[in-house]
Formats: sequence, structure tokens, C-alpha cells
Amino acid sequence: MMRSDGSFLLLLILQFWLAYLPMMIDQVECGSTIIGGRYSSDRRLLVFGDSYADTGNLPRIIARSWSEPYGMTFPKKPTGRFSDGRVFTDFFASFLQVRSPIPYSLRKYGKKLFHYGMNFAVGGSGVFQTFFIISNLTTQIDQMEEQVNLGVINLNSSIALVVIAGNDYYFYQNEGGTMKGLGKFTEKVINQLKLDLKRIRDIGVEKIAVTNLDEIGCLPSFTKKFSYRHCNETVNKAATYHNKLLAEALKELNMEDRDNTCAFVVIDLFGGFKSSLKQGRKKSKNILKPCCEAMSDDYSCGSVDWNDQKKYSLCSNPEEAFYWDSEHPTQATWNSVYDFLKPSLKTMFH
Ligand SMILES: *[C@@H]1O[C@H](CO)[C@@H](O)[C@H](O)[C@H]1NC(C)=O
Ligand SMILES: *[C@@H]1O[C@H](CO)[C@@H](O)[C@H](O)[C@H]1NC(C)=O
Ligand SMILES: *[C@@H]1O[C@H](CO)[C@@H](O)[C@H](O)[C@H]1NC(C)=O
Repeated sequence: MMRSDGSFLLLLILQFWLAYLPMMIDQVECGSTIIGGRYSSDRRLLVFGDSYADTGNLPRIIARSWSEPYGMTFPKKPTGRFSDGRVFTDFFASFLQVRSPIPYSLRKYGKKLFHYGMNFAVGGSGVFQTFFIISNLTTQIDQMEEQVNLGVINLNSSIALVVIAGNDYYFYQNEGGTMKGLGKFTEKVINQLKLDLKRIRDIGVEKIAVTNLDEIGCLPSFTKKFSYRHCNETVNKAATYHNKLLAEALKELNMEDRDNTCAFVVIDLFGGFKSSLKQGRKKSKNILKPCCEAMSDDYSCGSVDWNDQKKYSLCSNPEEAFYWDSEHPTQATWNSVYDFLKPSLKTMFH
């Protein structure tokens, strides 16, 4: 009697286990890879992507991120970051306890920093070609490969951060792309991104973190025509579709990976922005209005005319604003998004 009860229980447990195993694996996701060497000082961070991650790669002559008031909160002067202060790369580096890596285009000024990795991200870039002189993701990976082959970068304990914030979609629309064709185009973006991520892994990077799209329909460039009162939900839906395909692509990459089913992870910027924006809405009625606002469509944040007159207005305290300019969050927002992400980052990186 006891015995048969016992085996019945065992059977039940087994059935439970078999039924829930796939789900549990899903939930565990990538909770337990040890990455980045025993000591954080061994870790190297390689960064790819656009203005959410660029810390100075865009040339001064073309980038407003090198003019005032960019950088006014930190370090109180422009540094090529599209923010009043730090951008996501800086927060992610601090999480890994490494210095924010030197921008590729400034590498000759920072040989001592090569140990921390390198930042290849360029404002305005996409998976595909965007503005003509800006290196796309493929070119950024070429640059990393070149630095690895030259022996400048060592990929032991290396982590890649890939930040793609939506420039491909901006250009798709600019070139006359329709809403109807957007789904197909999204698939194209994700397919190319998947190839790029696999290539980063094949070159030898140990762990690759990829951001999903935030609620880009809430960016001031989309909400301006609603007097910053509400987000463009059609655009947010498009971002959600991108994120769904991205999650599927990463799952496939992990399944196909030679030895690490947790080599690729998603950083949920969508969730981070949503949660931070919700908090912001409680504090301010006009939370979607950017701190630094151009006076007309002919200008942008940082523009001055021939007489050096400012062609933008500035809020009194960027620390209280959600968006910095028409496309980018403030340092305070990145900080709040980072706080949201910390628990999940802790499970992804030990
Ligand atoms: C990226 O840019 C390079 C150089 O302009 C170009 O040859 C390549 O086809 C581009 N890659 C993609 C995926 O668009
Ligand atoms: C990478 O790590 C391995 C194993 O710890 C070590 O043998 C090798 O010398 C390291 N390579 C470099 C370039 O530091
Ligand atoms: C939302 O943005 C899309 C893409 O720019 C545009 O086609 C659409 O008209 C916008 N929706 C509203 C309500 O303005």
C-alpha cells in the first residue's frame, strides 16, 4: 500500500515535472551563466549601436551632441553624448564595474583604457545604412574585428552591449515606407540583426546583451503634434512587434549556440521606459515635453544662428524632465530605467 502510494506520488511528480519543464526552462531563461571573469577588473565591454549608447564617436563637426547644452548636468560640458549627462552605456558599465569604454574614434587618446574594451556605437546609426557617413552595425563589428586582430582588444571575459533604438524605422518612414509594409521591414531588420549578433559571438565575445525598443511612440518627435499630451500608439505597437521578433531571434540564437544556451540576453528597455514614464506622469502633467526644445522645425536642441543666438529653449531643471531632446531621455531617466533593470541584470550577469 505504502509502496504503491509512493510510486503514484513519484509518477505525479514526474508528470508535473515533464509538463512544466519547458516552462521552467523558459522562466530560468539565462539566470546562471557566470560571465566576465572572476574579477570585474578582468571584464571588457564592447558596445555597438546608436545614440542611446554613443559616448563620443560622432565627429564634432556634424554632431550637436558636441555642443551646448549637451552634457550640462554631467560633466557640465558636451562630450558627444546625446543627453544632459550619462547615457545607457555609462550605467551598464557601472553595473559591470568597469569604466565606460573609450569611443573607437577617440582611441588614440586613450590607450590606457583599452583594457576596459571599446565603444563602437554611433549616433544615428542602424542595422542598415542610415545617414551616409554613419557606420552601420556591420561596419561597427568590422571595426571591432580589426581591433581584435590587431591585438588591441582581448576578448577574454568580454561582454557586448548592442543598443538599437529604432533609426532603421525612422529612415524607412523617411524614404516613403508605408505602415502596410512595416511588418515585412521589421522582419528584415531582425533577420539582419540576428546575423550581426551571431557574428559578434563567432568573433569570440562571451556574452551579448541586446536592448529591445523602448516606447518610441512617446518620443517628443512623435508627440509634438499632440502638444506632448499623448503617445503615438501605432508606433508603440510597431515597437512591440520588433521586440517580439527580437525575443524569438535570441531564443533561436541561444538554441543554436555551440556551448552556451545563455550567450544572448535581452535588456528590456521597453519595460524600463514604461515604468519610468508611469512614475513621471504622477509627478508632472507635461512629462512628454522635452527639456531642450527647438524653437522651430528648422532647428534642433543645441542650434544657434549666425549671431550665436540660441534657437532652443531649456527647462529649469533637466533632473525633473523625462526627455532631454526630441529623441533622447535625460540622464535622470536613464538612471531610473537602470534602477528598473538592475534586478534582471543581476540574474543575467554575475
Ligand atoms: C553597412 O555599410 C557598408 C559600408 O557602407 C555596406 O557595404 C554594407 O552593405 C552595409 N550593411 C548593411 C547590412 O546594410
Ligand atoms: C585568455 O584566458 C586564457 C585562459 O584563462 C589565457 O590562457 C589566455 O592567455 C588569455 N588571453 C589573453 C590574450 O589574455
Ligand atoms: C503615428 O505615427 C505614424 C508613423 O509616423 C503616422 O503614420 C501616424 O499618422 C501617427 N498617428 C497619429 C494619430 O498621428
